[in-house]
This record gives sequence, C-alpha cells and structure tokens, in this order.
Amino acid sequence: MEVNILGIESSCDDTSAAVVSDGALLSNVIASQAVHSAYGGVVPELASRAHQQNIIPVVDQAIKKAGLTTNDISAVAFTRGPGLLGSLIVGVSFAKGFALASGIPLIEVNHLQGHVLSEFVHEKGQEKEMPQFPFLTLLVSGGHTQIIKVKDYFDMEIIGNTIDDAAGEAFDKCAKVMGLGYPGGPVIDKHAHLGNHDAYKFAKPNIPGLNFSFSGLKTSFLYTLRDKMAGDANYIDTHLDDLCASLQYTIISILIEKLDKAVKQTGIRTITIGGGVAANSELRDTLTQTAKKKGWRVFIPERKYTTDNAAMIAGAGYYKYLRGEFATMDIAPDARLKF
Ligand code: KG4
Ligand code: ZN
Repeated sequence: MEVNILGIESSCDDTSAAVVSDGALLSNVIASQAVHSAYGGVVPELASRAHQQNIIPVVDQAIKKAGLTTNDISAVAFTRGPGLLGSLIVGVSFAKGFALASGIPLIEVNHLQGHVLSEFVHEKGQEKEMPQFPFLTLLVSGGHTQIIKVKDYFDMEIIGNTIDDAAGEAFDKCAKVMGLGYPGGPVIDKHAHLGNHDAYKFAKPNIPGLNFSFSGLKTSFLYTLRDKMAGDANYIDTHLDDLCASLQYTIISILIEKLDKAVKQTGIRTITIGGGVAANSELRDTLTQTAKKKGWRVFIPERKYTTDNAAMIAGAGYYKYLRGEFATMDIAPDARLKF
C-alpha cells in the first residue's frame, strides 16, 4: 500500500496543502492572501484570520486533486515553525484535528528544512536528478538569508546568516518606498529586466565570514531616492526600471559573492537554492552562469516550489515517516523553531 502524506503549510501568508504519495507529489494547492498588499507587508492578525478561512477548502482541494479521500491519508505533516505564531497555530491545530479524527500519525516539519528539501520535490512520473549530500543551500526568503551546509535530510548546519534584514525584506522594503506594494520581489524582478543595472551604485556591506547584512543597502537606496526626489517629485516613476535593476543587481551580487566564499571555505561544490527570493530570475541566471564558470553543480527548484508551499512540507514529512519520526499530540507551534 502507498504511503500518502498530507502536508500543511501556514507559517506566514500562504495557506497551502499538498499530498505526496510514496515520495512523489500528487497535488499542491496554495491560497495566497491578497489582503496584505495594501499594507506593504504581512499583517499577522489578518494572516491568521485568512488561514482560518482558507484551510478547510485548501485541504479539501488538495486531497481531491490527488484523486484520494481522507481515508487514504497515512500521516499529516505540518509546519511547526519558524513563522508567525498566529498563522502557525491554525495549521498545527488543523493537523492535530485531522490526525486525531483519522487515527493517523502527526509529523512536525521545520519550515526552513522544508525550503532546503524543496529541491527533492518531484511530481509523479517525473524523472529528476537529485542533489547528492553534502551540499550547500542558499536559503533566501522574506524572513531568512542563510547558507546551510546540508549533510543529510535532517542533518543541517547554518554556516552563514543575516545579521539584520533578510534578502526578501530588502526587496520588500525598497519596493514599499517606491510604492510598489507587497510582496515587492516579483515586481522589482519584472522592472529590473527593463533597466540598466549600472545606473546607480548602492552600498555593499563589508561583513566578515559568511554572514550577510542588508540594512545598509536599504538605507543607501532610501537616501538616493530622497536626494533625487528633492529635485523631481516624479523621479521614481521616470527611473523605476533603472532603480529596480541596480537594486536587484546589488542584492544578487551580495548573495553570489558569499556563496562563492562558502564554496571555497567548505570545498562543497554542489549548490541548491530555496525560499521566495530563489524565484528571482537574475539570481537563477547568475547562479547558473557562475556555476558554469566555476564548475559548481547547481540545482534550482521550479519557481512554484521556491515560495511557501506545502509540497516541500509533505515531501520532508515523507522522509520523516520512513524514519518513524512522529510528533505527539501535545506538540505546540514554535515561532522561533531552530534546527
Ligand atoms: O519563502 P517565502 O514565500 O516566504 C517566507 O518564508 O518569507 O518568501 C517570500 C519573499 C518575499 O520577500 C518576496 O518579495 C520574495 O520572497 N520574492 C522574490 C521574488 N518572488 C518572491 N524576491 C525577488 N524576486 C522574486 N521573483
Ligand atoms: Zn518560507
């Protein structure tokens, strides 16, 4: 009989459910929350309310799309953290209720480990080459910017981390000051294609080791805008593409330079990327070109598995199921969960 894992993801502002059968993805349903766009960032209270509205229809659709019924589910994997507590509570409570009602085990998944393992997500019937351990993952999202040494599925070590803002936050905060709405990354990515990345020089941080910093860049971007707008109130509108191209180029250069340093330090030349910013076209292109030049093996997940999704949670849950690693019913969400 197949092992069918239902995955639940609700750590931030996407409600998602997925079904993985014997390791292969059958369905992945995501309800994104448009409500935050007007605020330039995720409003936690609104996020948890929207999760409550979305979770039952999203799970229902995921099971139906998989061609299964609730009776076919072998275990429920859920995101325990890190994330917004109010959002996590909705997913964790739902997972517990589902497991209890069906008499099946619960599996906790660390959201960040889910992102790292997103490269292993494959659809049923899809032939896919998987990265070999050990590898390095550049995990870049709205909340995290890390370089992780991945020795095995759940044996990971963070070797580089941001000391202030995350890369996604840099995209989002700069987009907000340009009036581009939330999330800013995809909009900046689109405009950057049309602009000149040498038009502006923004401050690049000088942080030792493998750590990152993005707050100085944000300030440098803000000061540039302030100075330019003092003489021309429409400056952003008329220079948007160049601003986006230069900003994006700076963020991506910072990421690639640190990754290069990490490869040199660890001797590990197999690289994967994950997290929302891994959807960025310039990061994907630059990484592919750099890999060719330097002889790295890179694995870039499909865009739909880079931003928050339950496929990566169900996939990680499947590996835990095989190891017999189950959670007990008294498990609680942990907004600052570490691994
Ligand atoms: O992984 P994710 O969906 O949620 C978190 O766990 O944070 O990442 C969301 C982040 C946001 O900051 C968003 O602006 C960024 O990913 N993002 C992008 C792109 N698509 C999403 N950043 C740059 N370029 C993109 N194409
Ligand atoms: Zn995420």
